[in-house]
Amino acid sequence: MKHTQRATLGGKLSAVLVAAGSSVGLGNIWRFPYVAGDNGGGAFLAIYILCVLIIGLPLMIAEFSVGRASHKNAVGAYRALDRKWSFLGYNGVLAAFLILGFYFVVSGWTAEYMVHSVTGELARYTTAEEYTAMFERFIGSPWRPLLYTSVFILATHFIIALGVQKGIERSAKVLMPLLFVILVALAIHSLLMPNGAEGLKFFLKPDFSKIGPATVLTALGQAFFSLSIGIGTMVTYASYFKPETNLRHTALNVTILDTLVALLAGIVIFPAVFSVGIEPSSGPSLVFITLPGIFNGMPWSMVWSSVFFLLLIVAALTSTISLHEVITAYMHEEWHLSRKAAAWATTGATMVLAALASLSLGVLNGWKICGLNLFDSLDYLTANILLPAGGFFTCIFVGWRLDRKVLEAQVTNDGHLPFRIRKVFVFLLRYLCPAVLLLVFLDNLGAF
Ligand code: PHE
Repeated sequence: MKHTQRATLGGKLSAVLVAAGSSVGLGNIWRFPYVAGDNGGGAFLAIYILCVLIIGLPLMIAEFSVGRASHKNAVGAYRALDRKWSFLGYNGVLAAFLILGFYFVVSGWTAEYMVHSVTGELARYTTAEEYTAMFERFIGSPWRPLLYTSVFILATHFIIALGVQKGIERSAKVLMPLLFVILVALAIHSLLMPNGAEGLKFFLKPDFSKIGPATVLTALGQAFFSLSIGIGTMVTYASYFKPETNLRHTALNVTILDTLVALLAGIVIFPAVFSVGIEPSSGPSLVFITLPGIFNGMPWSMVWSSVFFLLLIVAALTSTISLHEVITAYMHEEWHLSRKAAAWATTGATMVLAALASLSLGVLNGWKICGLNLFDSLDYLTANILLPAGGFFTCIFVGWRLDRKVLEAQVTNDGHLPFRIRKVFVFLLRYLCPAVLLLVFLDNLGAF
């Protein structure tokens, strides 16, 4: 196999930090708490952790193997291993583009809320109605979200333009530890709030009477989105891993970190929500409407809300970088553009899509695709169709199609590492994961 001159990541820690940077994102801090709140708290958490361990982890190892075996972008990687399977790479590039279309918009909101926290604007309101009105006014306004979204896109662009080591790796090394420090500080603060223990109980104490088949499927979808799997991100990142990187350990560490952040986000949010007596199941607006109201009732409210929105920005940024890289690496290597030109092409295209998605919540609200505005259809199409499909076919490809020797060589670093869990791993990839994913997929298409 021909190896072109390609960047590689530094030490062991770099691989973990960069991949965790992709996984940890708005999915953990914005989406996970409200999805858990809607689905029974602690019981959801238990099912979620099972999904991460049984399905997420093997799939991440599989994607790492594909990336490092080929040292190529998502499309090139599948093509190099088996011509017929390059569609899986295209599925990833397309999904990354479409996710960026709405993810950049929500990232822009976090930047706007950060600015409003710092200027004190956010502390001016008191009631939930006022916060709702403010949020709706903001997302529906024609130019303000566009401005913040553009700033976010350009920040992502410049990090990508700096390259794999100086941009992606260096930013992850600074941003990920920062994220942990902020999260732990916020969690401690939240636990000390009056009634905080109530919230913690709701979040950690499983009540299995609330669990049905739909909960399992929701947990699985959340695990996919949160771990960044089924989309080619981990394939692309692993193509920069060193030959001595232990893929199993890296995947295990990333899954643990990702789950830990989701747990900590729950520990930040639920005690705060309970301490002011708000319903934990208030949906996607939990972070943008409920939380600012909660912060407002606290001493030092401006500081806490600024720190919280900074946390969201940091988490979002390391994820948008990974999504951008999937497309940039593809254009650079497959279309033979310079890396710079590929990065600009990606930035330009995502900017147009994100602008349309943002406007679809306001002036372009009349444009509907199957009854959904553009913003919601991008979310639906990626989370409910492209990611589960990508995950399913990855299992089939790696479990059934890929030469077993290639997989073994990657997992054991050419025989240097033992592979005691071989049987379990292969069983999960071949049978259990595809079967469960098929169920999720059919459920998402409304079959049940
Ligand atoms: N995992 C990221 C999050 O939790 C989102 C993401 C999905 C990033 C897919 C890359 C690929 O927010």
